Amino acid sequence: MNMQNQILQVESLTKTYGKGQNKTEALKGITFDVWEGEFLGIMGASGSGKTTLLNCIATMLKPTSGKIILRGQDISGFHGRKLADYRGNEIGYLFQEFELLDNLTARENIALPLCLHGVTAGKAKADIETLADLLDIADVLDKFPSQMSGGQKQRVAAARALISDPDIVLADEPTGALDSKNSKTLMNKLSAINGEQNKTIMMVTHDANAASYCSRILFIQDGCIFHELRRNRQTESIEAFYDRIVVVMAQLGGGSANVL
Ligand SMILES: Nc1ncnc2c1ncn2[C@@H]1O[C@H](COP(=O)(O)OP(=O)(O)O)[C@@H](O)[C@H]1O
Ligand SMILES: [Mg+2]
Repeated sequence: MNMQNQILQVESLTKTYGKGQNKTEALKGITFDVWEGEFLGIMGASGSGKTTLLNCIATMLKPTSGKIILRGQDISGFHGRKLADYRGNEIGYLFQEFELLDNLTARENIALPLCLHGVTAGKAKADIETLADLLDIADVLDKFPSQMSGGQKQRVAAARALISDPDIVLADEPTGALDSKNSKTLMNKLSAINGEQNKTIMMVTHDANAASYCSRILFIQDGCIFHELRRNRQTESIEAFYDRIVVVMAQLGGGSANVL
């Protein structure tokens, strides 16, 4: 049997904002691994530390202590070209508010990470069109963001996160600005890309519907891991997993960590 590859190791990660009276301990020592091909969900109430965790992994924030190791390499040791390469090629980031550039077409927005790394739009054309077919945005490739629906914009943003074929896609509340129909479409697409291309995805969400597409969920409360759920995608449906997620969320809401 093939051993699964470990992509990311997060070890005893802490992050404290501010000093003295204004100190907030957003992460209080978080440890977990991410395996290749996983669709990992991070759930927790607002303010529990989800975005802080994702932004530490994305190197947008510097942890206070602890380690983040990508494919055996400690990312805190990355500088200059190596850091730019990590940000541009090894991770893809999907934001809640899409963050597309309004004066660029969908095609140009998707190609942006490649252009930053010197790949020409022409060379990227085939890759862009393959992703556009997968994400059902082929018909908006030459439109500007103002001419697209919210759902289309987020799928364009997803294509941008995937175009450099990153080791891991980090998504922060990607369905947060979408209605339920567009959320479902996005989750079906992400789930298909995860399944068919074995693409590793780590998604922060407080939406149980979105989380039910994941293969594993870590629940965070007050900067600590509180619980973990796993779904065997061969044997457990999205609907059945949703029901189990809701049970844990109810316990989180009550703040009663000791009931589990
Ligand atoms: N830049 C910041 N400065 C000070 N405190 C912050 C900052 N960003 C987040 N926090 C605090 O850290 C905690 C975790 O925030 P965050 O990671 O954004 O949580 P979540 O994404 O789960 O809502 C919260 O108490 C929040 O107020
Ligand atoms: Mg957040």
